[in-house]
Amino acid sequence: MNILVIGSGGREHTLAWKIHQSKHCENLYVAPGNAGTATIATNVAVSASDFNAIAGIIGEKNISLVVVGPEDPLVNGLRDFLMERSDLADDLLIVGPGKTGAMLEGSKDFSKKFLNKYNIPTARSKTFTPFEIEEALAYISTKTPPVVLKADGLAAGKGVIIAPGHEQAKEAMKEMLLGKKFGDASSKVLIEDYLEGIEVSIFVLTDGKSYILLPEAKDYKRIGDGDIGPNTGGMGAVTPVPFADVVFLEKVENRIIKPTIEGLQKENIPYIGFIFIGLMSVNGEPYVIEYNVRMGDPESQAVLPRIKTDFVELLVATANGTLSTINVEFDTEAAVTVVLASEGYPNSYDKGHPITGLDNTIEGLVFHAGTVNKEGAIQTNGGRVLAVTGRGPDVAAAQEKAYLSLENITWKGMQYRKDIGNDILSMT
Ligand code: AMP
Ligand code: GLY
Repeated sequence: MNILVIGSGGREHTLAWKIHQSKHCENLYVAPGNAGTATIATNVAVSASDFNAIAGIIGEKNISLVVVGPEDPLVNGLRDFLMERSDLADDLLIVGPGKTGAMLEGSKDFSKKFLNKYNIPTARSKTFTPFEIEEALAYISTKTPPVVLKADGLAAGKGVIIAPGHEQAKEAMKEMLLGKKFGDASSKVLIEDYLEGIEVSIFVLTDGKSYILLPEAKDYKRIGDGDIGPNTGGMGAVTPVPFADVVFLEKVENRIIKPTIEGLQKENIPYIGFIFIGLMSVNGEPYVIEYNVRMGDPESQAVLPRIKTDFVELLVATANGTLSTINVEFDTEAAVTVVLASEGYPNSYDKGHPITGLDNTIEGLVFHAGTVNKEGAIQTNGGRVLAVTGRGPDVAAAQEKAYLSLENITWKGMQYRKDIGNDILSMT
């Protein structure tokens, strides 16, 4: 079958890499893709936000399966748009929820109400609008710091502020609600209880009735070693995560995943696609921090290589509602992913630096994110540029492989964390 992946990051290169290995994949397209996807697929110069152009490509290239990587097009209704197009095949398969389902990520107020309605454990919170600024400031005074503030809408991963004290929280609240710090995304702001614990990312693939739990991962959000400095989209990932043992994952399934799938059914929200649940383990008890309606990045680069089952069979079964017939298998190997980023990221950074050493990466998997091929030379084209994944029988071996594999890669100003996986190794 002909398959189209939407997006241009490391997650999309990894999705395309898995799809490319399937015997069911005939022609693979990525819109818009990057220099990495161009080596295994045909990049089409169409933006993930140009729904008309995407529909055009689907018709022109006779696409049977569309896999949507990022949240933005989902939240903006790409699935609904494609399903309503009478010129596209009725049996077009799409992995990714419709606009209503995508609100689980697109509106933190919506997802919080959903969590509370279905008694799914999460931090207690209250939502405020600009008209309620006085109430919001008074509510902050009642909280024991740190105070967690969350913009309701999508804010490119930057919409959460953890204020160490009341004054900082109040200032941040004014900037968000009144100053529209995150534009429309902060026209509603949640004030949430702070959860103290260890985070883990859980990935579910669902056809709306059945679900498959994919391997879990740990993300490294801060830019600097030892978890210091500003938040990023993610600077590395490790799977498996030892504290997410059988007992913990059973709690996650019973208290969180099953009620989530049942809740979506009760709300009459057909949901086809990935659900990525950000969890906090508070003394071994799982609490939902957030839902995402897509795979994680860079978690995909660690988790997807562990899937042994034919990936296209898995995606087709998801999209056509037959996931319960699939017997999914995972590799028991560990994987460690290290993100190589541009100097200055997550703030402003240059683009266009030539990357060298890409042909000399031992056995690591190199996934591209912000790269572009200009006249045969691969150049940096984003903040997060590459993700290098090492695999091995355990986290120590996978970590060693990842760092060995990136040793020869370089460009002007390249930065990466040197401690991905160290915390996990010290736990075991
Ligand atoms: P989010 O954008 O929702 O993933 O939040 C960004 C980060 O803020 C999370 O990965 C957590 O590290 C942190 N965070 C969010 N909510 C809470 C909370 N209620 N308590 C403690 N940390 C939180
Ligand atoms: N790495 C976190 C995310 O994809 O949102």
